[in-house]
Parts: sequence; structure tokens; C-alpha cells
Amino acid sequence: MNIKFLDLGLQPLANSYQKSHKKKTKKKEKLYKLSVSFNTKTKLVSLVNRIPDKKMFNNTYPYKSSMSKTMIDSFKELSKKIKKRFKPNKFLEIGSNDGALIKNFANNKAICVEPCSNLAKITKKNGYFTYNEYWNLSLAKKIKSAFDKIDIIYSANTLTHINDLDEVFRSISYLLDKNGVLIVEDPSFLECIKKVSYDQFYNEHIYLFSALSVKNIINRFNLELFDIEKLPTHGGSLRYYIKHKVNKKIKIKKSVSHQLSREIRFGLRNYATYKKFALSVTKSKKNLIKIFTDLKIKNKKIIGYGATAKATTVLNYCNIDSQMIDYFVDITPDKINRYMPGKNIKILKYNRKLLDYIDYIYLGAWNFKKEIFKKEKNFIKNGGKFITHVPYPKII
Ligand code: TYD
Repeated sequence: MNIKFLDLGLQPLANSYQKSHKKKTKKKEKLYKLSVSFNTKTKLVSLVNRIPDKKMFNNTYPYKSSMSKTMIDSFKELSKKIKKRFKPNKFLEIGSNDGALIKNFANNKAICVEPCSNLAKITKKNGYFTYNEYWNLSLAKKIKSAFDKIDIIYSANTLTHINDLDEVFRSISYLLDKNGVLIVEDPSFLECIKKVSYDQFYNEHIYLFSALSVKNIINRFNLELFDIEKLPTHGGSLRYYIKHKVNKKIKIKKSVSHQLSREIRFGLRNYATYKKFALSVTKSKKNLIKIFTDLKIKNKKIIGYGATAKATTVLNYCNIDSQMIDYFVDITPDKINRYMPGKNIKILKYNRKLLDYIDYIYLGAWNFKKEIFKKEKNFIKNGGKFITHVPYPKII
């Protein structure tokens, strides 16, 4: 049974950065209900309302994995680890984006699956065999007939974006060699609760995984977890290592039971924990609005740093608009000179000088806090302050 526990109001599509200001366009931006539910049986957390894939993942998808040094370094490290630990012959990535990970593998050993044509074009150009398609069983069959079974399937921040999770894992189970390994990386719901980072929820993130829910879902397809790693990426993620149950050559590591116990101890099997989280979210909203209002009363100049999809959830849920935040800065070309969805705040091309006369910066990309603080040490040295809502609204 699915029980709704969190309501984040009406929200625009998180990655639909608007071309022009609301007042200058006749086309009204569409808003969708965003609320979150918990399945009492599988423990899976998911959005109540779903948006069709084609509205979200198309030829204008702006997110690029290679935009941050943190991600590039993390992918380089991971590719080394995969090569050493599993020595793959055929490596397949579902949601290969602009190839940030795959470029660490030889062209003849790696296959990309990417539904957004603007991104698929990049890996194709770089010589990688790329399927510009959505992940499903018919694609898995096509890949099998072309390449036979695959020994490593990897997917980061993608499977949780696909509505039909059963088909996702059925197709993976079908294509993965019997001795093969599936590696899945996604934000951890436990971390999300601990950090009150409710902005992990937006229309693309249909699911937010925990080890408990992953274990339950994959069990139906005769797959099982054999290792779990904790990662700092995307505000705290888990990397799940999965194999066919019939493969007894790979031993199950203690990390699996440790993570499961951690989640059970925290109460992820109980509805009360989810209700408590929803109350923390309401409190976070109230306190963040207070910070912004108090600063604006004092005429402080505030901008946003990192025009993230996550920030779209926060701005729309807390009703923070261009009266509060003058503009956002970001380095992603496809976001520059556009407007934050739903709130009409312009996104400017990042330039250090844009921070010169600013009092406060709202950290839209709080998950890159370390990298950003390092980059902006002069802003901090000159008395500039940051605002964040994670793990609770505060000025740093
Ligand atoms: P991310 O948190 O990965 O995405 P989302 O919430 O959209 O899934 O995106 C980080 C954004 O922050 C991305 O648009 C790039 C931007 N950014 C900067 O502009 N400068 C920086 O130094 C860093 C690290 C990120």
C-alpha cells in the first residue's frame, strides 16, 4: 500500500529552464502536483504523480555530468576501480549523459544508452556505440542480439527517473551475464531524511532508493545485493553492487547488512519516520523564508549559486522569487540567460566579478559546497556569506 506523507505543492518541470521572463511570454508555464508516498510493503519512496518521460528527457535536457570537477574525479576513480575489480569485457551504461564516465573506457568495450539526443550526440561523436533510446526490454533484446550478454551494467542517477521499475530490472536481469555485475548509484533516502534535503524530490526523481527498497525490488528478478558503498555525491548517495542470485562465486559483503541495519535502526520501515520527516520539511520552509525576509528587510543583496533542479523545488515550495534573489550564477551553457522554472529568476553565466557587490549567496548546489567554498574563498575572505537550507536553514 502507498501512503502519501509529503506535499511539496505545485511545481514546474524542474529542468525546464524558461527562455524568457514570465511577463514577456504568452505561454503559461505548466505546474504539476508534487507529493511523495511510501510503500508499506517494499519501503520504496516515490512520487504520487508521474510526468511522461518525453516531457522531461528530450533533445534539450540541460544537465551535463561533466560540469563539475567533483563528478569528473569521482567517475575517473570509479572507472579505475571497476577495471581492477571486475575486468569488464563489455561495459554498458544506462543514462550515459555526456560520457563523463564512459570516456574512461575504450571505445570498443563500452556501450552507451541515452534517451536525450543532445547528449547521445556527444558520445556518438567520441566514437562510442550509443543507443539514443529509453531503457526497456525491447532495447535490452536489441543490445543482446548485437553484443550478446554484458558483463557490467552501470547506471548512476537514472533508474530512479524511470516510471516502470519492474521493467527496468527485468531488462537488466535479461541482459546481464550470469556472472555479471550491475552497479547502481543514486541519492540515499536515509541521507535525504538526515539532511532534510527535500529538494531531492522533483518530477524527474520518481523514486528515492534506500538499501531496504532496492533489496525488495530486485529480489523479484532473482537479483541480490552483494556490496554497498557510501558516496558523498549528490548530497549523499549509495552505490549498490548487484548480482544474479545463482552466481555463488561472488560473496556477499558485510557492507550490505550494515547499511540495512542502519536504515532499520533509523526507522525506515516505519511510517512514523516519514511523517516526522514531513514535519521537519515544513519547519525548514518556515525558517528559510525567515532568513530571506530578514535579510531583505535589511536591504541585503542576495543571489543564487548553482541553478539546480533541486533549487527549483525549494524556490517553488517556499515561494522565493526575484524579489528575494536577484539572479543565479551557473556554468552550464544550456542554463545561461534562461530563467529558473516557476520563479522567473534569471540565470547568468558564472563570472567571479558577479559576486563582487553581493552580501549573501544562496547555495542552490549545496551538494558541491566544498568545491564552491574552495573556489570562492575570496568572497568568504571579504565577508561574503552563504545561505543554505541543508541540513537546516542557516547562514554560513
Ligand atoms: P546538480 O546538483 O548536479 O544538479 P541537479 O540538482 O540539477 O540534479 O547541479 C549542480 C549545478 O551547479 C549545475 O548546474 C552546475 C552548477 N555549478 C556551478 O555553476 N558552479 C560550480 O562550481 C559547481 C560545482 C556547480
